[in-house]
Amino acid sequence: MVENMSNHKEYRLYIDGEWVDSATDETFPSDNPANPKQILGIFQKGNKDDAEKAVEAAEKASEKWSDTPAPKRGLILSKAAQLLRDKKEELAKEMTVEMGKILKESRGDVQEAIDITEYMAGEGRRLIGFTTPSELRKKFCMTIRLPVGICGLITPWNFPMAIPAWKIMTALICGNTVVFKPSSDTPLLATRLVETLEKAGLPKGVLNMVTGPGEDVGMTIVRHKKIRAISFTGHRDTGAAILREAGLKRVGLEMGGKNGIIVMDDADLTLALDGVIWGGYGTTGQRCTAASRVIVHEKIKSKFERIMINRIKKLKIGDGLKPHTNIGPLINKAAQDKSARYVEIGHREGAKLLAGGKIPKMKGFFFEPTLFTDCTIDMRIAQEEIFGPVISIIPVKNFDEAIDAINSVEYGLSSAIYTRDIDKAFDAMMKIEAGITYINSSTIGAEVHLPFGGIKHTGIGTREAGIEGINEFSETKTVYIDYSGKLQRAQIDLD
Ligand code: UN1
Repeated sequence: MVENMSNHKEYRLYIDGEWVDSATDETFPSDNPANPKQILGIFQKGNKDDAEKAVEAAEKASEKWSDTPAPKRGLILSKAAQLLRDKKEELAKEMTVEMGKILKESRGDVQEAIDITEYMAGEGRRLIGFTTPSELRKKFCMTIRLPVGICGLITPWNFPMAIPAWKIMTALICGNTVVFKPSSDTPLLATRLVETLEKAGLPKGVLNMVTGPGEDVGMTIVRHKKIRAISFTGHRDTGAAILREAGLKRVGLEMGGKNGIIVMDDADLTLALDGVIWGGYGTTGQRCTAASRVIVHEKIKSKFERIMINRIKKLKIGDGLKPHTNIGPLINKAAQDKSARYVEIGHREGAKLLAGGKIPKMKGFFFEPTLFTDCTIDMRIAQEEIFGPVISIIPVKNFDEAIDAINSVEYGLSSAIYTRDIDKAFDAMMKIEAGITYINSSTIGAEVHLPFGGIKHTGIGTREAGIEGINEFSETKTVYIDYSGKLQRAQIDLD
C-alpha cells in the first residue's frame, strides 16, 4: 500500500491560507468504495499540533473578518456558489468515486452545497435582529447579531459537500473564523470545497482545514479553550463524547436517526412505496434521514409487502457512475460488516426476512437492499441506526398504535406519514416526536432554507440551515438606548 501511495497526488492541510504538510509526516489514502483498490489521493494525517496551528490562524484572522461588512462577506460566498455551479458535474463525479453514492444523488449533494452557499450569501444582506418597544418613554430596544468567535466544524462523509457547506457558509457569513475537520472517508471533496472558497477570495486564516483522526485532530478542536462553538454531525457515541469534552462552549449536534414512515390503510400505496424505497435505499440507507422503519397498517400489509418485494428485485446494485445503478456501495468494510451483523441480529430476534440480507459477490463494499417484516418495536433492528440498506416493517392495527410505534425510539430526526385523511395527517404532524415530519412524502429531502435537526437523542435542540442556522453561529446582543436624558428605572418608574 505504501509503495502504491507514492504514485498518487498528495493533498495538504489548509492553514493560514497555505497548503501545508502535517507535522506528523504521515498520510492516509482515500479510496473508492465501489472499487477499493482505486486510490483517489493521499491525505495528511494531521495531529494536535496541526489543529493548534489552525486555531492560531483562525484567531489571527478573526478581528478583520468579523469587521468586514456582512454583505461583503456575502459577495465571497456568491462567488463560491458560482464556482461550485461551474464545476458541479466534475465535483459530482468525484463524489461518486470517493463516496459511492449514485451520480444523480451526488449532483443533488453538490446542488445542496450551492443552495446553502447562495442562501447564506443573501443572509449577508439580512442577518436580522429585531426592534421592540420599551416599557419606558424615549427608550429604544433592539437586538443585533455578533459572531461567536472561532468555530470548530466536524463533518461526516455521507454528504461530503452539503453538510460541510451548511456549517462553513453559515459560520462564515456570521463573521466567525473556522477550523474544519472533515471525515477521513471523504477528504478529497472537503479539499475541493476549501479550494473553492480560497479561489472565491476568502482571506487567509478565515477557514482552516485539518484532515486526520477524530480522536486526535477532532478532540483537540473540541477541547480547545479558544474555540467558542462546535458543530458536529455524525455518530451518536462521538457526539456524546464531544458533549462531555467540549467544556463551556456552544455545541451543535446532529447524531442520526431511526426514522419511520407510517403507511395508513387509506394511503396511496404506489406513492407510499416510492417514498419507502427512496427513503430506505436511497444513498444506500446512509442518510441520517433514511427511512429504516416502515410502520404499516395491518389491513394493507400483505399487499404492501408483495409490491415492495417486486420493486426490490428490480433495483440494480453497482457503481454509481453507471447510468442504471440504483444502489451504490456502503462507505467502507466496517459499514458492510455492520449491515451484515444487523441481518444476523434480525434473524435471531425472530424478524422475517423478505428480501436481500447478503453481501453480493462484488469487489466493492456492496450490500443487498434488505427487508425485514413482522418486527416489533423493541427489536434492535427496529431501534438502532444501521446506516445501511436495511428496512424493518412494523405492523400496526390502527393510527394510535402507529404513533406509539414511530415514537418508540430514542432518536427523533425525520419522520413521515402516508394517508389521505387530513385529520390524521394533522394529528400525526402534532404527535410525532421528530425535528422533521413529512406528509405524503419520504423522510429525506430537507431544503436548505428550513431548519434541520432533531429532538431526543438525535441532538440537543440546535437546528442547522435556514434562519435557525444563523442562530447557531451568531451571538445575540440586546441593546437599550435611552434618549430621555434622565435616569429611567425599568420595572420601577412606571408612570
Ligand atoms: C444527513 O444525512 O445528515 O434531507 C443530511 C436529506 C438531505 C440531508 C441529509 N437533504 O436527506
